[in-house]
Amino acid sequence: MLTAMLLLLLAAILAFAVRAGLARRRAEKALKESRQRFERAFTHAPIGMALVAPDGSCLDANLALCELVGYDRDELLLRDFQSITHPDDLEADLHHVRMLLAGEVPAYQLEKRYLRKSGETVWILLSASLVRDLLHGSPLYFVAQIQDITDRKEAERHIRHLNLTLEERVVLRTEQLAERERQLETLVGKLLAAQEEERRRVAYEVHDGPTQLLIATHQLLQAFAEDHPPGATVAPGALDRPLQLAQRAVKEARHIIENLRPTALDDFGLAAALRFLVEELRDEGWDATYDEGDLGDQRLAPELETALYRVAQEAINNVRKHAATNRAALSLSRVANRASEAGQPNGKTPRVRLEVRDWGRGFDAADDPRRGPGAAGPGTRVGLSGMRERLALLDGTLLVESKPGKGTSLIAELPLPPEAPTDDEAMRKVHTS
Ligand SMILES: Nc1ncnc2c1ncn2[C@@H]1O[C@H](COP(=O)(O)OP(=O)(O)OP(=O)(O)O)[C@@H](O)[C@H]1O
Ligand SMILES: [Mg+2]
Repeated sequence: MLTAMLLLLLAAILAFAVRAGLARRRAEKALKESRQRFERAFTHAPIGMALVAPDGSCLDANLALCELVGYDRDELLLRDFQSITHPDDLEADLHHVRMLLAGEVPAYQLEKRYLRKSGETVWILLSASLVRDLLHGSPLYFVAQIQDITDRKEAERHIRHLNLTLEERVVLRTEQLAERERQLETLVGKLLAAQEEERRRVAYEVHDGPTQLLIATHQLLQAFAEDHPPGATVAPGALDRPLQLAQRAVKEARHIIENLRPTALDDFGLAAALRFLVEELRDEGWDATYDEGDLGDQRLAPELETALYRVAQEAINNVRKHAATNRAALSLSRVANRASEAGQPNGKTPRVRLEVRDWGRGFDAADDPRRGPGAAGPGTRVGLSGMRERLALLDGTLLVESKPGKGTSLIAELPLPPEAPTDDEAMRKVHTS
């Protein structure tokens, strides 16, 4: 009986041991599979992953991290994370690590830079948490997840740069506009003063020229009338002098009118008016020439002719006043479109160009006459800026080239309306459309 009971007990113990062994093997197998799954997930994760000891040394690193920093796994296991962190970002990182170790935060995220093995910098987003011993709570290792954010950072830097450039441009443009406004205000002031000055000048000219001649004529005629009662004989040539004076008065009056509004411009056009201007200079003893390119058959629009004529007049006045020479050359021509404006239909928007050149003393064209030593109050030094404004109103430009001792060249250009296509061109267009 005892023996039978012992046998039964032995059999039960044996069965239990066999079951326990089976259960342990199953558990070990499950654990092994779970570890393998974790290892595979860890090794092949698309973002960098690492297990890091509390002192920063690397316990394990996956492929993505190795690729990111350029070290192979064995090299990384010999390093700590302090050594691959950019020195400027280390303190911020260590500060978070201390908080994690002290249990102040459960995890942290940080954007920082790693130094690749090649020395390059790579921006990463680090997410770190701490695994503790279950029994005592002491820190075991950090789990670090590392994402490459270099592209995002580069895009952010680019956007910041663009914003900055945009802001700089806005500031520059605003300054330019403010400066332009100041220039216009100064110019308006100068033009008003110049207008007053011009009125005074015309009044003096009328007073000193034709008026004096007419007064003299009047006096001579009065004396003649007193000396010659009705029926008295008139000696031949007795009226020659008053007639001469009256003729001079008419000539001077014409001269004043010509300056106020050049009739030659109205009657014959710009080219002829410029030719007359040069002839007048020659009459005064100047060595002056006038050259004319092919200007086409049509006359320029009146506002273009007036603008260019006034520019020529002021340029000649400047030579007279400042250049200390009487050698000058004027030329008028039609020029092709500038390269920068190509893209116009057929690239053919033509321009009319007036050049006034002298071989006088010249000046430093880079000096701003509004600020230079000779800069004075309103009404002075209006010439060049007035020319510029006059041309700008018609979309034109003024180029002043001058150097002390080298003479001065002034080039005014105004755009002409696009030419009507020639018959050939019109035909080509019809065929190609
Ligand atoms: N052809 C030139 N030769 C030498 N200097 C010149 C010549 N043209 C202009 N300048 C210089 O440029 C300055 C500015 O010329 P601008 O025509 O604007 O004024 P201005 O002739 O002095 O006065 P305003 O024209 O108002 O009567 C002149 O004062 C002179 O110093
Ligand atoms: Mg002038």
